[in-house]
Amino acid sequence: MIRLHNISKHYVVGPQVVRALDGVDLEIGDGEFLAIMGPSGSGKSTLMNIIGCLDRPTAGRYELDTLNVGQLNDNQLAILRNRRLGFVFQSFNLLPRLPAIDQVAMPLLYRGATNRKRVAAAALKLVGLEDRMHHKPTQLSGGQQQRVAIARALVAHPSIILADEPTGALDSKTSMDVMNVFRQLNDELQITIAFVTHEDDVAAYTRRIVSLRDGKVVGDTPNVPTYAGEEAGAYGGEQDGADTGSEGRQSDSDGGGAQAPLEKKE
Ligand SMILES: Nc1ncnc2c1ncn2[C@@H]1O[C@H](COP(=O)(O)OP(=O)(O)OP(=O)(O)O)[C@@H](O)[C@H]1O
Ligand SMILES: [Mg+2]
Repeated sequence: MIRLHNISKHYVVGPQVVRALDGVDLEIGDGEFLAIMGPSGSGKSTLMNIIGCLDRPTAGRYELDTLNVGQLNDNQLAILRNRRLGFVFQSFNLLPRLPAIDQVAMPLLYRGATNRKRVAAAALKLVGLEDRMHHKPTQLSGGQQQRVAIARALVAHPSIILADEPTGALDSKTSMDVMNVFRQLNDELQITIAFVTHEDDVAAYTRRIVSLRDGKVVGDTPNVPTYAGEEAGAYGGEQDGADTGSEGRQSDSDGGGAQAPLEKKE
């Protein structure tokens, strides 16, 4: 559970005070799938960076489950990021010379895990890239690169994935493939997913749309997800049954299909 109370982020630039965030109250429950929208400069990235513990607010209170994030030191924040959060960026942020499997294994290095390659391979399989494990970024399409980045974000079993315009550099067909990956992670692993987008058809995949303007939340509406273009098949073309429009979470026992190499949360 993410709870933001009256969060502000102000920047002083010369004589000017920029209120990037200006009194944001927002709660995000476990397992939610939501889009954050709003015009350029409205504070979306600032908000993601604060939720992701990459930045600290000027004022306000941020609670993540039982933690008061504002009281953690930088070292504790780094541990929190590594244990709980996964990040996906518009520009993929992959290392150019590293094969996919090594990119994905990297976050596990910090944990001293011994079975890194096997866990990384499972994460790549989860995003439908089992046949591209040894490809470097230059040998992959944009959508495949973004799927490597998603695999890297989820390899350490985060409970929350934050993505800042993850489809911003992709064409619309590839964007839908990537959204199908997010949807499946949310459906099958109950990972909380919050992402920034400018595109209505991308936001349409989620169950909730939060709108920002001038650093304030000006809209917060539930959304019935539409899965148009689902046949795009981010998972190698396999369909996982008709859950279109389903409001409720899949129950823990119904499994949601054959491929779930990572364990579910809890
Ligand atoms: N380091 C900084 N110093 C000063 N002002 C900043 C800084 N970072 C962001 N801002 C300002 O804060 C506001 C919010 O920026 P933010 O990057 O969160 O916007 P955004 O909604 O993500 O926009 P976009 O859609 O263009 O990515 C902007 O007006 C920006 O100019
Ligand atoms: Mg931004």
